[in-house]
Amino acid sequence: MAAFKVNGKNVCSEKNQKLLRFLRDELRLTSVKDGCSEGACGACTVIIDGKTCKACVPDTDSLSGREIITVEGLTEWERQVYTYAYGKAGAVQCGFCIPGMVMCTKALLDENMEPTDDEIRYALRNNYCRCTGYVKIMDAVRLAAKILKKGEIPDDGDPNWTIGNRVARIDVAEKVLGTGKYPDDFYLDGMLYGSALRSRYARARVLSIDTSKAKELPGVEAVVTAADIPGENKIGHLKHDQYTLIPVGGLVHYLGDAVALVAAKDRETVEKAKKLIKVDYEVLPHVHTIEEAAALDAPKVFDEEDSNVCAHKHISRGNAEEAIRNSKYVISHHFETPWTEHAFLEPECAVAFYDEDGDVFILFCRPVSTSDQTRMFTSSGNR
Ligand code: FES
Ligand code: FES
Repeated sequence: MAAFKVNGKNVCSEKNQKLLRFLRDELRLTSVKDGCSEGACGACTVIIDGKTCKACVPDTDSLSGREIITVEGLTEWERQVYTYAYGKAGAVQCGFCIPGMVMCTKALLDENMEPTDDEIRYALRNNYCRCTGYVKIMDAVRLAAKILKKGEIPDDGDPNWTIGNRVARIDVAEKVLGTGKYPDDFYLDGMLYGSALRSRYARARVLSIDTSKAKELPGVEAVVTAADIPGENKIGHLKHDQYTLIPVGGLVHYLGDAVALVAAKDRETVEKAKKLIKVDYEVLPHVHTIEEAAALDAPKVFDEEDSNVCAHKHISRGNAEEAIRNSKYVISHHFETPWTEHAFLEPECAVAFYDEDGDVFILFCRPVSTSDQTRMFTSSGNR
């Protein structure tokens, strides 16, 4: 147990837990974002006794007597300044990193109202933004410093803007102040938590899945495997070739393939239950690269498919041979583009609930809701 202050109020964490979990789950301060839970992204940055700290790192038992500030604890003046500066600079896109950036900005400007670019870079060094490229965030920090020094926010917003005017995005305040809700920020009464047990191997056949011990654990509401899926188990974007859950007899294709799902009353119980699920695998030769997969004797990644080629398309526009023949210069080279991960900071999660009419709503963080809707219908046997 530890007692400390959060945004000027005395609080007490009964159990020892990560500060991030206490701030979000108990105080519901959801400006403190959970991007990675392991000290890598900076989305959870708060200020402890004047210094920035990633809230997912310290345990609450280590914080007795400390003073913590989150974006919710900014003064009204600071809220206005940071909202204006980040909006004016165009520093907000998805917004998930922004409350953490604002905390870094505040900690810097509280000590130094005239930071150099190197000092700004240093202040933001532990925080990732996957959207903006940092230049505009640095502009926002410089602008906030200028306004804080002058003590006045420019009155240059045009309420009658039209197309062609430069305006701040309409959701800038909720993203800067952390009041906008991402799916991970929803807390519903009696909410269950869910998580997938994922494959331990990059390529292996699932021989058996025993969920009996996990189901017996108090607090567990459901443990689901492929055998429980009422509709089609296979989904996919280009082809329906990916298992929702790997069935007994099926192949796992990478370390992230889901083998079972657990729903329980809290996160701790979910994690305990996952450890109680026993999966037997026959480990098979792994396929690590496109080149390995393309080899003539490559093991099949999807053993129901004829080969490891997902699709073959020949694209032809105009007469390339003639254009090359008539070109003054011809350069031949082998070009490759790297595999690139989107690296979004927001956790991939979803929240589902019934409304009073019994209709089911699912909130999730994806731009293509129709394809997810189709997959859910397909796997639930509704289509
Ligand atoms: S650094 Fe704490 S959530 Fe990423
Ligand atoms: S705006 Fe920074 S992660 Fe999207």
